Amino acid sequence: MSSDITGKTRILGIIGCPVSHSLSPLMQNAALQALGLDYVYVPFLVTDAGVAAAVNGLRHLGVEGFNVTIPHKTAIIPLLDRLDPTAAFIGAVNTVKREGTALIGYNTDGIGFIRSLQEDLGFASKGTTVLVLGAGGAGRGAVAALCEAGVSAIIVANRSRDKGEALLADFRGIFADVKFTLASLELADLEVHLRSTDLLVNTTSVGMNGTHFAGIELSALKPGAMVYDMVYAPIETPLLAAARDEGIRCANGIGMLVAQGEAAFAIWTGQKPPSGVMEKRLLLALA
Ligand code: ATR
Repeated sequence: MSSDITGKTRILGIIGCPVSHSLSPLMQNAALQALGLDYVYVPFLVTDAGVAAAVNGLRHLGVEGFNVTIPHKTAIIPLLDRLDPTAAFIGAVNTVKREGTALIGYNTDGIGFIRSLQEDLGFASKGTTVLVLGAGGAGRGAVAALCEAGVSAIIVANRSRDKGEALLADFRGIFADVKFTLASLELADLEVHLRSTDLLVNTTSVGMNGTHFAGIELSALKPGAMVYDMVYAPIETPLLAAARDEGIRCANGIGMLVAQGEAAFAIWTGQKPPSGVMEKRLLLALA
């Protein structure tokens, strides 16, 4: 972010509802400032009813690009001109870039997730079995990224069966080499799957606001298995606290938030943000 906003300053932003909790403005502006780029990144509160008008407005206002958060990651797709292939098969967009008057949709959540698994847990996905909790937009992004990274098997455990079934039906057709299984969140159903799991990933909002999973018994996990929670506020969710108690290697979603943000920044500006700048700003805000 430049200290002076002039007639030449270029605009980036985020659309969501709510958006006031988002940490993206802080971390993106920190990186823009560190590189001395004449851009500013701002939050836009956009409701479901206003999303089509807002996206068209952003196009004609000449905004260079923007992030998309809850609840618009899927709804935005028909409003865009083109999709990057990864965003197309995930079925969700978290980053948009304007090229002329065309808006192109990308998904950097998956890249961010795999990078965080490698950097924060040292987890190598190839040939592993992963238990994914949740089948929403974040769950779909995780499953797609894990399949692309070469996992052998994915177990999806979701509260509502129909959403889990829909996810599996979509991905079975794309990744024929991966073994997909559907489970519930009940311990009786999960226990057998926990024994073969190399990595357990929470993609749901459970863990925010003191909520926790009742049916997950981490002591049943395969020895050496790891736990990743995409939630980052609180920094330690009940799931992560339980993993720590069991001596299980685990990480929260901060690394993924940073990595997806760095990938979006590179799409918009063509430059890599200086290493550690976004993470440092984020940790300061969460401290
Ligand atoms: P996102 O795009 O962030 O993934 P979403 O598409 O609304 O958001 O999906 C939210 C996911 O969290 C879903 O898998 C949801 O389960 P349902 O399909 O049954 O709705 C899951 N989820 C949300 N609250 C939950 C809770 N209290 N217990 C278990 N699962 C929950």
